[in-house]
Amino acid sequence: MNRIKLLALMLLCTIAAMAQAAADGGTRTLRSPNENMLLWFGIDGGRPCYSIAYKQRPVVKRSYLGLQLAKDKHASKKMDETDLMDGFELADSKESTFDETWKPVWGETRDIRNHYNELEVALKQRGTGRRMILRFRVYDDGVGLRYEFPQQKELNYFVIKEEKTQFAMTGDHTAWWIPGDYDTQEQETQESRLSEIRQRFHDAVNWGNSSVAVFSETGVQTALQMKSEDGLYINIHEAACIDYATMHLNLDDRTMTFESWLTPDATGMKGYMQTPCQTPWRTILVSDDARDMLSSNLILNLNEPCKIEDTSWIHPTKYCGVWWEMIVGKSAWNYTDEFPSVKLGLTDYDKAKPNGRHGATTEKVRQYIDFAAENGLDQVLVEGWNIGWEDWANMWKQDVFDFTTPYPDFDLKALNEYAHSKGVRLMMHHETSSSVVNYERHLTDAFNLMNKYGYDAVKTGYVGDIIPRGDHHFSQSMNNHYLHVVKEAAKHHIMVNAHEAVRPTGLCRTYPNLVGNESARGTEYEAFGGSRPDHTVILPFTRLQGGPMDYTPGILETQLGTWSDNPNFVHTTLAGQLALYLTMYSPLQMAADLPGNYRKYDDAFQFIRDVACDWDESIYLEAEPARYITVARKAKGTDKWFIGGKCNEDGHKSVIRLDFLDKGRTYDCTVYADAKDADYEKNPKAYVITKRKVRKGDVLRLTEARGGGFAVSLM
Ligand code: NOJ
Ligand code: CA
Repeated sequence: MNRIKLLALMLLCTIAAMAQAAADGGTRTLRSPNENMLLWFGIDGGRPCYSIAYKQRPVVKRSYLGLQLAKDKHASKKMDETDLMDGFELADSKESTFDETWKPVWGETRDIRNHYNELEVALKQRGTGRRMILRFRVYDDGVGLRYEFPQQKELNYFVIKEEKTQFAMTGDHTAWWIPGDYDTQEQETQESRLSEIRQRFHDAVNWGNSSVAVFSETGVQTALQMKSEDGLYINIHEAACIDYATMHLNLDDRTMTFESWLTPDATGMKGYMQTPCQTPWRTILVSDDARDMLSSNLILNLNEPCKIEDTSWIHPTKYCGVWWEMIVGKSAWNYTDEFPSVKLGLTDYDKAKPNGRHGATTEKVRQYIDFAAENGLDQVLVEGWNIGWEDWANMWKQDVFDFTTPYPDFDLKALNEYAHSKGVRLMMHHETSSSVVNYERHLTDAFNLMNKYGYDAVKTGYVGDIIPRGDHHFSQSMNNHYLHVVKEAAKHHIMVNAHEAVRPTGLCRTYPNLVGNESARGTEYEAFGGSRPDHTVILPFTRLQGGPMDYTPGILETQLGTWSDNPNFVHTTLAGQLALYLTMYSPLQMAADLPGNYRKYDDAFQFIRDVACDWDESIYLEAEPARYITVARKAKGTDKWFIGGKCNEDGHKSVIRLDFLDKGRTYDCTVYADAKDADYEKNPKAYVITKRKVRKGDVLRLTEARGGGFAVSLM
């Protein structure tokens, strides 16, 4: 048998295996442009189902699709209450191909190719006559699928009780997971077999968090990264989550089948819908090479093109800020300790005694502005500038901040003028303390104030339980809130970096003023006790799938006790901190340490001065989840390259062939590496800086310490 015949036979066998038991008919198969990915669709007993194979290997076994609708006691007779689970027959199906290259406003690469084959399946439900469309997009590196509900008299308003999208895994994969939770995504990632999630679950929950809302002992969040025993990397997440609740995955650990589990709102319901409408895309990335998980653009591609016409005001930004000193506990957000609590409008701050620990003073901010100007940083974030921090969190308090009134020792006007005179801008901070009603009421005034003083970026925050009380951080209504803020900000030419807001799903393609999100465990946890060294070699596989993270790297003084009473230390080496500017892609990068600490390690800080945060090209050179990531990036519009490598607590050796450099050119290469005896616990600040000339084809051999990393600039 020749190779082609053999491949054809293997393919037939795979399709037969995917189809398993006979389906009702109406089966369809569709392959990706390079034919590596294969989608099978069928209807089984009136229930739509699908499966996926990659290079002739099953990835998702037969999995069912459908939605349960609520029999809502509040619903009027106009609500459709019959589930959208079964009784379906195929009405029509269409196949098409799409191939387009687009340019992101900012990103890891200058161009992004969006190339897929599409299958549109129109279904009709017997008895009700209701119509539902399933749309599948099959890419070379994965599949996106979503439900669409056309406008129709048979289906108008409906309330989702649960979405029942299945992802049936083929085995007991290794998974990197955090517990499902309606309000927090700041847990440490667990590495375990799927079958071990249940026994590991209780310890994995961050019970100390104010709002822990776990729903099952096998519930996990997405993006969920997995690896099969035979070396397939599989990642499940979602794209374009708009006017819909965030999806979790609930595992049936007898069958290794995940099923979607949406975030409820205060009513317990999961989605209030009116046709025409659609769900977000459910995404499944697959490859036999871990690097493809990191370079995939599938999630961005499944989002709509940019809706902001003039994007000239959106720009990648490097910033420092009056921040880490508060997180570490050296200074405070609040101005006075005199008031145990504050009522907006009733407190005369001018008469209150300052506590002497307030961080955001005019004097201090001036110093940060000087530091930013001297070191080429674009902006200075200032937290604790506005009144209300005396009792800001966890009081179930609705009117916390007004976002417009500065503390008496913060000269809003003079500081902005001073910053602008030095070519620097201040970055606004809006901690909402999750009082969303309050924030929405003040939003226009807050953005007008920013416009008046020349701010063009805001960091928002959602610490604590949501008000309206009973709602959750990742519900449909909260997801609508976050997007509302981004859209309103765009009208004011303001970029948004939202902390504790929902994990991103690629919406930054459509609204590129969403330049950052936290939505995971950030550097702040190093001051609260630490994150494992493998944390940052997992995040690019999980949290970063949906969009950039404001991880706030660059803590060069890793031992906090050297300048504060905080006994904690950062769980990387100093060189490892530099690597994060490359391995944790973001158009918004903070130089998070204190100016004084940067002066102490000025030769290492040079890398942070030099490194870009917008790229024409990115090449993932090596990657393995929770082990190591090495990436080379070419700075936008220049010939400069930067390389970063980060590893876990085992250390790592990298051999990097500089094949990607321009032919015939000589580069000044500076390597910031762990010293021979460096170790994130015992000797974190041992680093060596070496300089040499290199050319295309030269080889760099670099050793990363336990919890270490390296950074290279090629100019
Ligand atoms: C939590 C955020 O992640 C952190 O960056 C911020 O400083 C505090 N909330 C206060 O808003
Ligand atoms: Ca946070």
